[in-house]
Order: sequence, then C-alpha cells, then structure tokens
Amino acid sequence: MPLMPAPRTVTLAFTGASGLPYGLRLLECLLASPTRVYLLYSPAAQIVARQELDLTLPTQPAAATAFFAERYAAQPGQLTVFGREDWYSPVASGSNPADAMAICPCSVGTLGALACGLADNLIERAADVMLKERRPLLLVPRETPLSAIHLENMLKLARAGAVILPPAPGFYGHPQSIGDLVDFVVARILDQLGVGHTLGPRWGATKSVPRSIERT
Ligand SMILES: Cc1cc2nc3c(=O)[nH]c(=O)nc-3n(C[C@H](O)[C@H](O)[C@H](O)COP(=O)(O)O)c2cc1C
Repeated sequence: MPLMPAPRTVTLAFTGASGLPYGLRLLECLLASPTRVYLLYSPAAQIVARQELDLTLPTQPAAATAFFAERYAAQPGQLTVFGREDWYSPVASGSNPADAMAICPCSVGTLGALACGLADNLIERAADVMLKERRPLLLVPRETPLSAIHLENMLKLARAGAVILPPAPGFYGHPQSIGDLVDFVVARILDQLGVGHTLGPRWGATKSVPRSIERT
C-alpha cells in the first residue's frame, strides 16, 4: 500500500489587530487542505472579532475546537485550539514544533513582544520556538501609520528569520469584492506556508491587460 504523505502541521494565531477576516479565511483554507492546524487566539482577538464581525469566539479550548471544526467542516482531529497558557501543548516546545506558524492578523503589541524575545503567553512562546528552531514564521502585521519602533521591530524579526507579510492587497487583478481583497492576501500567505490553493489567478498564467487597453 502506498504511504500517504504526512499532513503538514501549521500553527495559526489570531491577535487583536484589525483584520480577522484574513485569519478566518486562512483557517478555512488550511482546513480545506490536508493540513493539521493548531489554533491560538488572544483575548484581544476575541474583542476584535466581536467588534468587526459580530462573532463571539469561545474562550474554552474544547468549545473553540468544536466551534471552528463545525464552522469549517474540519476532519476529525484536524484542528486543535490551545489555551493561552497551555504549556503542555506541542507548540510550547522546540521538541515538537509545527512545520510553520502564521500570526494573522498580528498586532504591533505581539510584534513588539516577539522582537524582544518575550514568551509570556502561548502565542509568543510558539513564535519564539519557531524562530529558535529556524522554522517558517509568518507575521501579518496590521497598523497604520507605522512608527519607527514598529519598523525596527519588523526589521529585527525579519533578520531573525520571520517573514513580514503586511495585508496589502494588489488591485491589478480587478477585485470585485472585499472577499477578493481578502483572498489576495490569504493566497500570498498560503504560498509562503507551502499550502496549495486556487485563490485567484497567478500573474502570467492568464491573459491580463489593463482595462483601458481592453476597451480600445
Ligand atoms: C477594535 C480594535 C481594533 C484594533 N486594531 C488594532 C490594529 O489594527 N493593530 C494593532 O496593532 N492593534 C489593534 N488594536 C489594539 C490591540 O488589540 C491591543 O494592543 C492588544 O493589547 C493586542 O493584544 P494581543 O497582541 O495580545 O492580541 C485594536 C483593538 C481593538 C479593540
């Protein structure tokens, strides 16, 4: 019998920056692929979810796992949500890290904590583990404008191996909806994580000419 490739494991964290639609769409896409997902979120992310999506994210990890597994039709055992101080979870140790981690959206608060090497909660610890183990860590920071402190923190983290991927959708594909803009960003994140997707055409793969030229 042929061996099935082992599913990749991705840790996904939501923090309290605006932009949870990116994080939720990313979770949906990961769960639609053969990827095991460890999900973490901060109390501030729960507040933002209520504010921008009218969505109540459960606080208890078991309830949160059931909530998201049902919402995105996850396979049994494919998704696990861990609590803020679950130091016994695999993501807390370099002996059992995920293959990659994304923090989406990433607040500048969490960004600053990571740049300083803090590990006061499971999100910070899991990200710190990725850096020390030289595994892919993808940060999707949302703030504007950016202060010199934010920029220095991003540079420091990029030099430590993190990928800084601001949620900055392109408009050259003629997006028609907010969903198109979200998918543009999520597609770039999935590319970085090495997860296959069909979110929108790739540049050069289809005929793409400026609209003004199309009309003449
Ligand atoms: C509705 C709302 C929107 C926010 N938007 C942002 C944001 O875009 N970027 C950011 O860095 N912080 C934002 N914040 C502030 C963070 O939530 C706050 O700094 C929090 O302490 C971050 O904690 P965390 O990194 O543990 O999630 C927002 C807060 C609220 C309530």
